[in-house]
Amino acid sequence: MPHEVRGVVARSKGAQVAIETIVVPDPGPGEALVQVQSCGVCHTDLHYREGGINDEFPFLLGHEAAGVVEAVGDGVTDVAPGDFVILNWRAVCGQCRACLRGRPWYCFATHNAAQKMTLADGTELSPALGIGAFAEKTLVHAGQCTKVNPAASPAAAGLLGCGVMAGLGAAINTGGVTRGDSVAVIGCGGVGDAAIAGARLAGAAKIIAVDIDDRKLEWARGFGATDTVNSRETDPVEAIRELTGGHGADVVVEAIGRPETYEQAFYARDLAGTVVLVGVPTPDMKIELPLLEVFGRGGSLKSSWYGDCLPSRDFPMLVDLYLQGRLDLDGFVSETIGLDEVEEAFGKMERGEVLRSVVNL
Ligand SMILES: NC(=O)c1ccc[n+]([C@@H]2O[C@H](COP(=O)([O-])OP(=O)(O)OC[C@H]3O[C@@H](n4cnc5c(N)ncnc54)[C@H](O)[C@@H]3O)[C@@H](O)[C@H]2O)c1
Ligand SMILES: [Zn+2]
Ligand SMILES: [Zn+2]
Repeated sequence: MPHEVRGVVARSKGAQVAIETIVVPDPGPGEALVQVQSCGVCHTDLHYREGGINDEFPFLLGHEAAGVVEAVGDGVTDVAPGDFVILNWRAVCGQCRACLRGRPWYCFATHNAAQKMTLADGTELSPALGIGAFAEKTLVHAGQCTKVNPAASPAAAGLLGCGVMAGLGAAINTGGVTRGDSVAVIGCGGVGDAAIAGARLAGAAKIIAVDIDDRKLEWARGFGATDTVNSRETDPVEAIRELTGGHGADVVVEAIGRPETYEQAFYARDLAGTVVLVGVPTPDMKIELPLLEVFGRGGSLKSSWYGDCLPSRDFPMLVDLYLQGRLDLDGFVSETIGLDEVEEAFGKMERGEVLRSVVNL
């Protein structure tokens, strides 16, 4: 029997999102039906609504979620009804070239549910990032469910499903931040602050937060920034050099996705340092750099998708660190809201008033 639930749908480009009745099939082979408890509002949901990802409207939004498995289809052995899970958009296939080389965090053929969720009239929905969790129930591939300690609050745990994992992983996995490093993070929204929290966890000695908004810099201190730079008032490259004995930072994380801030990151790193681009640029953006500088500075210029995470490895570990009080996931939850407040939450996000609004179901 299919399930009729409420979900937040973007019908067409730029139109306000609205709650609609969603028809969710029972899980088929390899699939899981999840009762969603919490789902964060991420910038990517807004990108979907604006047609910035693709044109496959209508979208069922929401992808930063935690919940409880209600039912599983044939052949599912890793999760069972009653399990508390974080949903992920990297259910690795185990078969592609990346997986076979032992680098599943680059998997090129990640799994999603085979069956479609629909509107009441049968129109097929495109779930955001193959998840669609601004809904009371959602259907995913069982590999998209990562079981974690149920003692964690769903609102906090769900954030590991996207933005917070992306930032933490950009510092720890992609940037390889380690004890004693100097780190600068440009852009201190949810993703940048997670990079700061990751740098602190990894033992960085100096963590420099850069933003144009003093309120964001204040929050960044709470996650572990040792120094802050308002780049509207101060040249961030000069400031980062000064704060690192004239050298530049070992690792610079760019968490905005703009050419001018990428350029700041490029020049603010030490010789042989690492730049990690985790902010997502738009297709029109270009950057010009002296090739001699790219060569002469050595080191590496990397980008980070989903923090190069492996959900099965990283989610349970990070939830444990959270439960031990070593990772402040609650600090990212600026407010909890209802399903009917997602559109308002987009406005708060654009005005910089929140790190994360989280829908509680
Ligand atoms: N790579 C991934 O897998 C992944 C996953 C999730 C999100 N993202 C991307 O990460 C980026 C950040 O996401 P977020 O949720 O933290 O967004 P956000 O809007 O909450 O944060 C952006 C921050 O950058 C600051 N900022 C803007 N312009 C600036 C400038 N010129 N100089 C300094 N600071 C500036 C803002 O004040 C804000 O604090 C987005 O591009 C998002 O799409 C990437
Ligand atoms: Zn694969
Ligand atoms: Zn996201």
